[in-house]
Amino acid sequence: MTDTTESALTATEEALSTPRTIGVEAYLSPDYARAERDKLWTKVWQQVGRVEELAQVGDFLTYDILDDSIIVVRSAPDTLRAYYNVCSHRGRRLIDTPPGAREAHGRRKQFVCGFHGWRYDLEGRNTFAAEQQDWPCGLTPDRTRLGEVRVDTWGGWIWITMDPEAEPLREYLEPAAGLLDPFQLENMRYRWRRWLVFDCNWKVALEAFMETYHVPYTHPEFMNFGNFLGWSRAQGKHSNIGYDAPKGMEENQAKLRLGAGPDARMSTAELQNFTWENANTNTTRTLVDAANRLVAELPEGTPADQVLKHWLQSAREYDADRGVVWPTVDPQVVAAAGTAWQIFPNFQIGHALNNMLCYSARPYGYDPDKCIFEAAVYELFPAGQEPKTEWEYTAADDPAWRTVLPQDFSNMAAVQQGMKTRGFAGPMPNPYRERSVVNLHHNLATYMGTGAPRDLA
Ligand code: FES
Ligand SMILES: [Fe+2]
Repeated sequence: MTDTTESALTATEEALSTPRTIGVEAYLSPDYARAERDKLWTKVWQQVGRVEELAQVGDFLTYDILDDSIIVVRSAPDTLRAYYNVCSHRGRRLIDTPPGAREAHGRRKQFVCGFHGWRYDLEGRNTFAAEQQDWPCGLTPDRTRLGEVRVDTWGGWIWITMDPEAEPLREYLEPAAGLLDPFQLENMRYRWRRWLVFDCNWKVALEAFMETYHVPYTHPEFMNFGNFLGWSRAQGKHSNIGYDAPKGMEENQAKLRLGAGPDARMSTAELQNFTWENANTNTTRTLVDAANRLVAELPEGTPADQVLKHWLQSAREYDADRGVVWPTVDPQVVAAAGTAWQIFPNFQIGHALNNMLCYSARPYGYDPDKCIFEAAVYELFPAGQEPKTEWEYTAADDPAWRTVLPQDFSNMAAVQQGMKTRGFAGPMPNPYRERSVVNLHHNLATYMGTGAPRDLA
């Protein structure tokens, strides 16, 4: 365990624990939305895709954030490069996003501009410009090369920042990176990934997932299976949340939830089957099957902590037999890491030992009432058996979302509209369960120079 990890276990838990209120400007103001470009989005590290998406030299993807479009390309077997997606001649976007697609991706030996045919190699150097003799001053390499963007990787994701002065990615991500490293997130692969446009600010969309306070009311059926309420902590730029769990059941703070009924064997199986069918998140076929074997494998009256141990051990062994090796994580780290991290400003990692559920949200143009929202489920697969997935645009009422996520979706536009009402004084998040919401605005304020949460009292 690193020093950073140790201090994250203890030092920051009490930050922002007193009641605060947040102004509505950050959600509603067109001026604030416009200012986010120069003060926020061009300054932070943003997650733009998975390393495995760019496996071969020449594989590229694009990432759009407001007016900026960025190309990330594997320029050599061990090198990723990122460039502004704009031709240095007269500013045509170099790679077009296909209509209706989230991004462009593919494999190229070079990038060719469709306007006057200038060409660029994978290092971003201009390799062809017609009739160069017409520029007596010379088209020097630094005049014609693609603008460089910083790129790095962590957790199996590709991250970019447009700020040459930004701190290194690893530093930026602490203490999240230290506490999540043992989960080996880089070994997970997409099971599915979907995106859509919501009629709400990107913060409204993210904030719907960064707390457990809503679970009993937005997802009442989950209360049949146990208690899904939990804590929320400010962790510097980032935050995390976890379930309240009895002592000795720290694993149960993770997404591998034990059902709480008179018979933990049965309630665990019910919870697993419900989650698999209605959310298709936070579990895997192996975990569901192992839960369904509990009644046959354990005697009636087995204490809940024993049921949990047996269930996880049995799933772990089943997976190991098919070449899927779960990481072994210190229970103290499992407890401290909780169930999900909110990586500033717009990415949530809901980690577990063999699967994860991640969300991100970003502006859709400069309209504060719209955002692009993405959800992806990842899993440990046997090598070579990873499913082939693409980002699929999936409207909120599409049955592919199943039933649980649409319950969250139903709050998005309603919150955005509600906050505009004259009678609303500003959000006042629960200081224990929704501290991550306060911390997001606390950190946003340091970038934006406005909107710091105020004491409620
Ligand atoms: S704008 Fe690209 S070649 Fe002219
Ligand atoms: Fe929810």
